[in-house]
Amino acid sequence: MKIFKNKSELSDFLEARKDTHSQVGLVPTMGALHEGHASLISKALAESDLVVVSIFVNPTQFDKIEDLEKYPRTLESDISLLSKISESQIVVYAPTVVDIYGETVASHHFDFDGLEHEMEGKFRNGHFDGVGTIVKRLFEIVKPNTAYFGEKDFQQLMIIKKLVEKENLPVKVVGCDIYRASDGLAMSSRNVRLDEAHRAAAPFIYKTLKAAQRKFGTESANTINKWVVSQFENQKLLELEYFIIANIETLKPIEQESKQSLYRAFVAVYADGVRLIDNIALN
Ligand code: PAJ
Repeated sequence: MKIFKNKSELSDFLEARKDTHSQVGLVPTMGALHEGHASLISKALAESDLVVVSIFVNPTQFDKIEDLEKYPRTLESDISLLSKISESQIVVYAPTVVDIYGETVASHHFDFDGLEHEMEGKFRNGHFDGVGTIVKRLFEIVKPNTAYFGEKDFQQLMIIKKLVEKENLPVKVVGCDIYRASDGLAMSSRNVRLDEAHRAAAPFIYKTLKAAQRKFGTESANTINKWVVSQFENQKLLELEYFIIANIETLKPIEQESKQSLYRAFVAVYADGVRLIDNIALN
């Protein structure tokens, strides 16, 4: 498998294959790859001649230095997982911070029409400026036809779509279903940081989202919100940061339910200092 640490070598490689590999897919990741990432890569492989998987723990999207430092870095096992998926059709781009940012590690400021101020934007300062900066940079370097993002980070997916629309970038953005462990916990690179007790408690998050989904339509959003908060109060190992039912276009909390709009429930939870997010479609 080809592994590039350097953007100019990757660009040369892609340029040389432009005629034979006309359909290039990009799957941006921060590594510590799991089946959730693999599901995006499989979808990309089915629709592309060549798939670039980027592995880069992007410093500008972390608001807490501790979270950045503790983020798992497992390049060797990531590469062995990828080579089991496809030796020939995948190339890895695992750049250094300097290759991406040069000497100044800073993000651009973006206006995503307010999407960046909701949910994760409220709790993670500057997060989406960091995400916008790295994803735009990766689009410029790889020049993919299509880029794949998971609904696990639904707000991020909507923000990337907004980035492409507002900046007129020549990339098709494809959203992919959330991949879950058999007990319902959404796969995440952060799950490896959970000890046994917190890992055992964590499926409660999806269980509660499913219950909220069943209640939606017959109970008011306010009643469901209160019910979810009370459920988490009984969970000693899980600390609820937010539960929000939001319109999927604006990401604003639901006020008056409209039959024309689509809604999702979004949740962020701390388990022993590990931040877990999840979401579910409600209608
Ligand atoms: P990371 O958390 O590594 O996720 C990479 C991609 O995998 C994202 O699009 C994410 O939504 C998707 N993903 C993660 N877990 C998933 C799951 N259980 N099911 C489906 N998709 C899943 O998201 C990032 O990295 C970064 O913000 C990035 C976009 C790479 C920019 O740095």
